[in-house]
Amino acid sequence: MASDPSVTFTNLSSPAVCNWNPEDASFPEEFAWGAATAAYQIEGGWDADGKGPSIWDTFTHQGGDRVFKNQTGDVACGSYTLWEEDLKCIKQLGLTHYRFSLSWSRLLPDGTTGFINQKGVDYYNKVIDSLLANGVTPMVTLHHFDLPQNLEDQGGWRSETIVKAFDSYAQFCFRTFGSKVKLWITINEPYVAAELGYEKGLMAPGVTEPGTGAYLAAHNMIKAHAAAWHSYDKIFRKTQGGLVSIALNSDWAEPFNPNSLADQEAAKRHMAFCLDWFATPIFLDGDYPAIMKSKISAVSKRQGCPSSRLPEFTEKEKMMIKGTADFFSLNYYTTRKIRHQEHMHNQPSVSADKEAEQVTDPSWPVATGSSWLAVVPWGLRLLLKYIKDTYNHPIIYITENGFSQSDPAPLDDTQRWEYFRLTLQEILKAIYIDRVMLKGYFIWSLLDNFEWTCGYSSRFGLFHVDFESSALPRIPYKSAIEYARVISNNGLMKSCG
Ligand code: BGC
Repeated sequence: MASDPSVTFTNLSSPAVCNWNPEDASFPEEFAWGAATAAYQIEGGWDADGKGPSIWDTFTHQGGDRVFKNQTGDVACGSYTLWEEDLKCIKQLGLTHYRFSLSWSRLLPDGTTGFINQKGVDYYNKVIDSLLANGVTPMVTLHHFDLPQNLEDQGGWRSETIVKAFDSYAQFCFRTFGSKVKLWITINEPYVAAELGYEKGLMAPGVTEPGTGAYLAAHNMIKAHAAAWHSYDKIFRKTQGGLVSIALNSDWAEPFNPNSLADQEAAKRHMAFCLDWFATPIFLDGDYPAIMKSKISAVSKRQGCPSSRLPEFTEKEKMMIKGTADFFSLNYYTTRKIRHQEHMHNQPSVSADKEAEQVTDPSWPVATGSSWLAVVPWGLRLLLKYIKDTYNHPIIYITENGFSQSDPAPLDDTQRWEYFRLTLQEILKAIYIDRVMLKGYFIWSLLDNFEWTCGYSSRFGLFHVDFESSALPRIPYKSAIEYARVISNNGLMKSCG
C-alpha cells in the first residue's frame, strides 16, 4: 500500500473524552470536503457527440416498469452541457474535492481503445481543468455501473475477457488524465453492481442468474480492479504520484439479539458477505473471507452442485490481488439488525448463502426518499472502527454518504441536515476518540439526479434540480448552505438556525 505523505494524523491531539463536545471540534487540517456524482446519473447527452450506449441506456430504453415511471438518464441533470452550472454549485459549497465518474462509453464508444471519442476526452478535460483552476481536487471513478453495452454483449462482468478490457480502459484514463488526477477509484460498489445487476436483475444489465451471476461478476471485478492497480503502480505511479482504490459499500451489522450467539455470528457473516467479500482479498490476503468460502461451499453441496458456486482464485491471482488499494474508499448509508436464518429461500442467492436475515429497527428514522435507508449515524462510527481494526488501520475516505428526500422535496430540509450533523459528529468521534485515519467525507450527492430504479423520485442532492424545466435549474437546499458553513469553519460549530 502506498503511503500518502500529506497525512498528518500523528499531530492530532486526543480530546479529553469526558467533557469533549464534537460540536466544538475542528476537523483535521486538510480534511477533504467533497460531494459525489456519477456519469449516468447526471450527464444526460446519452448519445451526444459519438458516445456509445451503456447497459443503463439499454436497460432504461427497454422500459418494462423496472424504473420508476420508465424514466431514463437520457437528459438527467444535463451536466454534459451544463457543467458550468455544476461548477457554480461546487464553488458555492466551497468543496475542496469533487468525486465524479467517467462514462466509459463516452470515451471509448464500444468499450475498447480501438476508437477513442475525442469529444468525450475534451469534456472530461474541461471538467478536470476547471476544478483545478478553482482549487478543487478531482477524485475520479473509472466505472460507476454504466458498462459499455458492447462489452456486455460479450458477456460483461461475467466474462473473464472484461479484465483485460477494463485494464486497457484504465490505462487509457491514467495516460490521458493522470497528469492532473491524483485520486482514482477503479470500480464503484462492486457488491451492488454484481448482486443487483447479475443476480437479482434489478439493475442493468438486468441479468437474473441466482446463486452464480453475482459471484462470477464480482470475481472478475476484483481481478479487473487489481489489474488496473498494477498498471498504475508499474507504469504511472512514478511520474504521476497518485493513489488508486475501489469504492466499497457497506452496511454496519448489529446482531438482532445481542445475547444470541447465533445472531452475533450472523452479523459477522453479513459483514463477510458485503464489505469483506471485496476488502479481504484486496486489503488482506488475496482471497475471499474463510466464512464466505465455507458457507457457500456447504450450501452448494446441500443443493447438489458439483462444486462451490463461489469461484476460486488461483495462487497467482491471489498474489496479484493482495494489497491493491492505496486507501480505503467507503460508501456508507445504513445499518441493519441481523438475525440468524437457515434455509431462507429455495432459490440459491447471496443472501440465502449468508444464512442471515436483515431487519430494520422500527425505532430508526428512515430517509423519506428511500425505504431501505434507515438513518443510523452511530453505525458509521462502528463501521469505521471495524475497518481500522480489520484492515490494518488504513487511510479512509468516506466517498459516499447521504439521505434522500422524496419528490417533491422541500428546500428547507432541516430534518435531513440534522442527519448530516449527527453523522459528522460520529465522524469526529471516529477521528479523535477511535483514532481512525479518516481523510475526507463526500456527500452523495451534489445534485438531485437519476436515482437508478427510483428515477427522479428519490432526491439525494445538496442542490435541488427542477427536472420539469428545460433549463434544469439548480437551487441549494438548506443542507447545502449548512454544509458550506461546516466546510468554511472546518467544523460543525453552532448552527445558524
Ligand atoms: C451508489 C449511487 C447511488 C447511491 C444512493 C450508491 O449505492 O453509488 O450511485 O445513487 O448509492 O442510492
